[in-house]
Amino acid sequence: MSSNALHVPVMLQRCLDMLAPALAQPGAVVVDCTLGLGGHSEALLRDFPEARLIALDRDPSALRLAGERLAPYGDRATLVHAVYDELPEVLDRLGVPRVQGILFDLGVSSMQLDEAGRGFAYAQDAPLDMRMDQTTGVSAAEVLNTYPPGDLVRILRTYGEEKFAKKIVDAVVRERAKEPFTNSARLVELIREALPQAAKRTGGNPAKRTFQALRIEVNGELAVLERAIPAAVRALAVGGRIAVLSYHSLEDRLVKQVFAAGASHTAPPGLPVIPEQYQPRLKLLTRGAELPTEEEIAENRRAAPARFRGAERIREEVAP
Ligand SMILES: C[S@@+](CC[C@H](N)C(=O)[O-])C[C@H]1O[C@@H](n2cnc3c(N)ncnc32)[C@H](O)[C@@H]1O
Repeated sequence: MSSNALHVPVMLQRCLDMLAPALAQPGAVVVDCTLGLGGHSEALLRDFPEARLIALDRDPSALRLAGERLAPYGDRATLVHAVYDELPEVLDRLGVPRVQGILFDLGVSSMQLDEAGRGFAYAQDAPLDMRMDQTTGVSAAEVLNTYPPGDLVRILRTYGEEKFAKKIVDAVVRERAKEPFTNSARLVELIREALPQAAKRTGGNPAKRTFQALRIEVNGELAVLERAIPAAVRALAVGGRIAVLSYHSLEDRLVKQVFAAGASHTAPPGLPVIPEQYQPRLKLLTRGAELPTEEEIAENRRAAPARFRGAERIREEVAP
């Protein structure tokens, strides 16, 4: 895979088409909650010349690199170092009460995976860090060296869907008692040894699932997302649209649940007519999760697990 292919924004045209009806108006504000290398953001600024962009990332390197890329757009782009569940505070600080578009492109960026020193990649030996923001929080090594075995098993099973979680954690606990983990190569080797022969022959690098699980835990990814999606829906003006790209079934399930709840009425059962205050606040713009095309996956492997969902805000919250 060329590094160019790695940097192609996932389902870009679909994201632009979904947000278009909300953004083609003077004064529209669009928030990219996951700026990364700024691929989606740049396309939003280019295609919607009347819109202003607010873009968030928790990774200071992403803000630096995307900042250079988006510099030609001047003050149409405001980049903010924040975790995306801080969206309400960010909008408050900027004096923007409501926005017309919101995009989430979840997970890690190709830049984070490419930078060996960050410890996200199992293919290179590096310090086991995996923090998207290295200025705060605990590293993957600390998780591995200090968490009780039961928590590690739960993390590997739930976030990594690792069938051999118990075997791997038994080996980790045995090894960490001899010497704490610092680098990825020792963990990769241990996983390779812990897995049965048959499991090693299928499904790519056997360390992939454990690394994904540790990354999700280190960055609190699901807990943050659980707060962020409802907050984003609340920040939308009526007619505003939200688009989310997920790469993990648990992320996609969470998005699906929040959208489905917003698209359902909240009336107590048995009312013959649903009063306004109980009417749905959202209209779903995707039937189920949309997937990337075969052609896109052939050109950009990172798109393969993507699941895309969108919704439109159709009603204000009415106090009951
Ligand atoms: C898949 S990349 C985005 C790529 C981007 N759409 C592009 O086209 O270049 C995800 C980005 O979101 C950031 N990110 C992940 N979780 C975050 C969170 N909870 N708050 C803020 N940024 C987050 C990561 O640091 C990463 O830079």
